[in-house]
Amino acid sequence: MPGSEAATDLPRRLNVIGCGKAGRAVARLLHAHGLCVVGDVANRTLASAVEAVAFIGAGTPKPGIAAMDAAGLWLVATGDDAIAPSAEGLAASGRLRSGDIVFHLSGATASAALAPCRASGAMVASIHPVKNFSDPQASVRTFEGTWCGCEGDPAALALLQPAFERIGARLFCIDARYKALYHGGGAFACNFIPVLMELALRCEERAGIPREVALDMFEPIARETLDAVFRQGIAPALAGPISRGDAGTVARHLAAMDEWDPRVAQAYAQLGDVALDIVRSLGRVDAGRLDATRAAMRSAAATAQSTPEDPR
Ligand SMILES: NC(=O)c1ccc[n+]([C@@H]2O[C@H](COP(=O)([O-])OP(=O)(O)OC[C@H]3O[C@@H](n4cnc5c(N)ncnc54)[C@H](OP(=O)(O)O)[C@@H]3O)[C@@H](O)[C@H]2O)c1
Repeated sequence: MPGSEAATDLPRRLNVIGCGKAGRAVARLLHAHGLCVVGDVANRTLASAVEAVAFIGAGTPKPGIAAMDAAGLWLVATGDDAIAPSAEGLAASGRLRSGDIVFHLSGATASAALAPCRASGAMVASIHPVKNFSDPQASVRTFEGTWCGCEGDPAALALLQPAFERIGARLFCIDARYKALYHGGGAFACNFIPVLMELALRCEERAGIPREVALDMFEPIARETLDAVFRQGIAPALAGPISRGDAGTVARHLAAMDEWDPRVAQAYAQLGDVALDIVRSLGRVDAGRLDATRAAMRSAAATAQSTPEDPR
């Protein structure tokens, strides 16, 4: 591991409450870079804590917060809903000392969820790695260059941020008030790409093209489009009838989808509405054509909304 010598003022001992996919990867990175020593690890079950400790290569599995020893640094990496109750449990345990740092990794939850710990004298923060930790082993290998959104007590961040930089993070500040929106944006950038492909495959299947053929057929253009987004930008990467203001084709798409599955028509119309904003901003297509295209999409969205149940 690069930078294996400790050179930050981060408290040496790290306890982890909730050491699943993200928690164990981050704990292992901090430990392996010599930035802290993993102390106690508590999960919902002791067996899971044992597994986490084996992954990290350090630490002591504990059956719960009450059994944990003191530490200067506490990572609460439970699922988001369990962060606040865990913070309450930690504060109530009497384990926290004034000046300890407690942090979590959530993108959607603010560091304020750790308020009970702050009330016990700790400093709190959140460092959200914009990364998929579904394979923690791979995440440790590929963490270098990961963007991490930070917010919280300045004194806590002043100690955490240099340590995260040492494990390869690229840091940026987020306003805690907008975390849900910030994290929701990530759903569009990441989670909905497979959903868009699913919609595409359903259309092809309905048109008689097998899913696996459709997937192969779309692979080159899907990859080229995503490459174009990052190489040239959003607007230049947008092609197709909406980008040309071709209201007739758009109306035929919508009619065909609406007849079969109004939800697909509605998804098309709502995404298309945003596509029109992009096209309009370029100022290259006649405004009247864009207005006609938008009218077709809004009427399809309205029709689909009035359709009661799953039509399939
Ligand atoms: N996964 C990602 O890609 C990712 C990316 C960025 C940020 N994050 C953030 O990282 C945090 C953890 O997510 P994750 O995906 O790593 O979740 P996860 O794999 O489900 O791990 C959560 C861990 O927390 C433990 N836990 C749950 N409730 C607990 C409690 N009350 N007390 C003690 N331990 C408890 C679970 O124990 P058991 O194993 O015993 O069930 C599990 O080990 C979340 O805030 C998430 O938003 C995740």
